Parts: sequence; C-alpha cells; structure tokens
Amino acid sequence: MAHMNGYHNGTVEKSSENGFAEADITESSTSINPNSYEDVAKLANFVRSKTQYKPKIGIICGTGLGKIVNLIENPDILSYTDIPGFPVSTVKGHKGNFVFGTLSGKSVVCMQGRIHTYEGYSMELCTLPVRLMSLLGVETMIVTNAAGGLNSSTQRQGDIILIKDHLCLPGFAGKSPLCGPNDERFGPRFPSMNNAYDRGLRKIAKEVAAEIGLKLQEGVYAMTGGPQFETPAENRYFKALGADLIGMSTAHEVIVARHCDIKVVGLSLVTNLSEFETDVDGETNDVHSEVLKTGEESVEKASNFVTNLVKRL
Ligand code: HPA
Repeated sequence: MAHMNGYHNGTVEKSSENGFAEADITESSTSINPNSYEDVAKLANFVRSKTQYKPKIGIICGTGLGKIVNLIENPDILSYTDIPGFPVSTVKGHKGNFVFGTLSGKSVVCMQGRIHTYEGYSMELCTLPVRLMSLLGVETMIVTNAAGGLNSSTQRQGDIILIKDHLCLPGFAGKSPLCGPNDERFGPRFPSMNNAYDRGLRKIAKEVAAEIGLKLQEGVYAMTGGPQFETPAENRYFKALGADLIGMSTAHEVIVARHCDIKVVGLSLVTNLSEFETDVDGETNDVHSEVLKTGEESVEKASNFVTNLVKRL
C-alpha cells in the first residue's frame, strides 16, 4: 500500500474550492470546532490537498472490520494523527486512517477506525469525520459496526444484519451531536430521521446479498454510550424497546449524515449474542475478545459484501 508521507513543512499553498485557503490549517493547528462551518471547510481543504480522489462514497469501518480497506486500489492513506486538531482513535481494532482510493471502480473514502464517545470525545468531535466527508463531496455513506445480537433465536455470531432503523439512547438523555448552535450550511435545525437508513439503498443491499448468496436479515440498532458492555437487565430492556442489535456507535454518525443530506446504508456484524439472564453458567466475561475474534473471522465476508454493494451505488 502506498502511504502518504509527511506533509510540507509549514503550509499548503494550493487555493481551495470553497474560498478557504488550505494554509489556514497547518501542521501546528491545534483544535477544530466541529460546529464551525469555517473550521470544517478548512479541514476539508487540508484533506483535499493530500489526495487526488474526489469520493462520493464514504465507508466507516466498525470494530475488527478495518481490513475492508485492503480491497481499496491505489490507496492514499492519511493518518488521523497527521491531521492537525483531529481526534485520534484509541481503541484496539480501530487503526485511525482515512483511506482514499478505488473500490469496484469507484472513488471512495474509508474511515479505518472510528472515534467513540467513550474515548472521552464529544459527540460533535466523534461525528466531525462525517461532516468532513460531506464537505469532501460524499453523498452516500456505508456505515458498519460490530454489535451484540439481541435475538438468539434468529441471529448467529458472524451474521451480517442490514440496519433498518435505530434507537439513539444517548439522545434520550439530551446528548445529540446536533446539540448547540446550528449552521444551516450543514443542515436544518430540526432534521427528520424518517428513512434515515435509506429505503432505496436497503433494497439494493438486499438484492446484492441475494446475488452473492449472503443471508441478510434486517434489524433495529440501539446505540449506548459504553464502554462497559450491557447487563442482562439492560439487554432485556433494549429488546423490549424494539432493538435487535446493541452497540456503542453509528447512530450519532447517521444523525449527522442525515443532517447534511448524506444517504446512509448501515450494516451490523453480530460479533456476540447478548446475555439475558443473570446467574447462568459459562457466561462470557471477555466480550471484547469475542468481538475482535468474530470480526477477524468475518471481515472477508463483510468486505466482499461492501465491495459488491459499492458496485451498485
Ligand atoms: N454491546 C455493545 N457494543 C458491542 C457489543 C455488545 O454486545 N458487541 C459489539 N459491540
């Protein structure tokens, strides 16, 4: 894989597409305000100066699914650590790179590793990459995640589930990535979340799954804050709320994507089946290892699906 080397010492000189000079973000810049259109536009110009690709498709890789990028041809790799002021992914299973390149003949940008609120970052900072993608020209986002399965009668470890809707539990407690001042250049103050997981794209995803012989159920994804896994009582509660999958990401990214009118298709990999009873023998105490192991075992299948899906977008 080609790796983008370090940057120019000092500033980047090319002029921008939206009036902000790339020179405005430099190697020594320290912070980006995700609610500031100007800051995100400067960031987009900085990133644009590092790659020739102009992707319309963005992909977010979930835990253990970072190897999806291995199928990207002629990649330009930009580490989060090389973007001044950008949050850094600290979790095992999340590398922390933007990978630009070609997948199924289309220009894509892939987040190899996402940023979670439990790492101590605000909702706004965790979703900054989505706003960045939007200003880079992304119109469709494939979001993937590792999730606990809440339906052991129909789900198996390693199943890929098409997300049809979500419950953003932090949102119930007033934690939305859209809290704070709203800049209409990003999107409306009160965005609708109907059809958040685009019906047309879900239809395509189901067709693609059928073509490649992949069993694909649909389900509702619930986002918690983490980092602790859920108690059995919490799992019973989430299931009673209508969730089929439980995880620590995605919903906030989808909210921001819909705010800026990016169409979304979401995929969960069931990495573990959630526990519903207390005092059972043989319960798992190392869920994270199970998550990583299932990710490792299923990443090829997930990559194949994503590649075939991109072909149809
Ligand atoms: N709960 C929350 N997040 C997760 C899980 C889980 O069981 N599995 C993978 N991510």
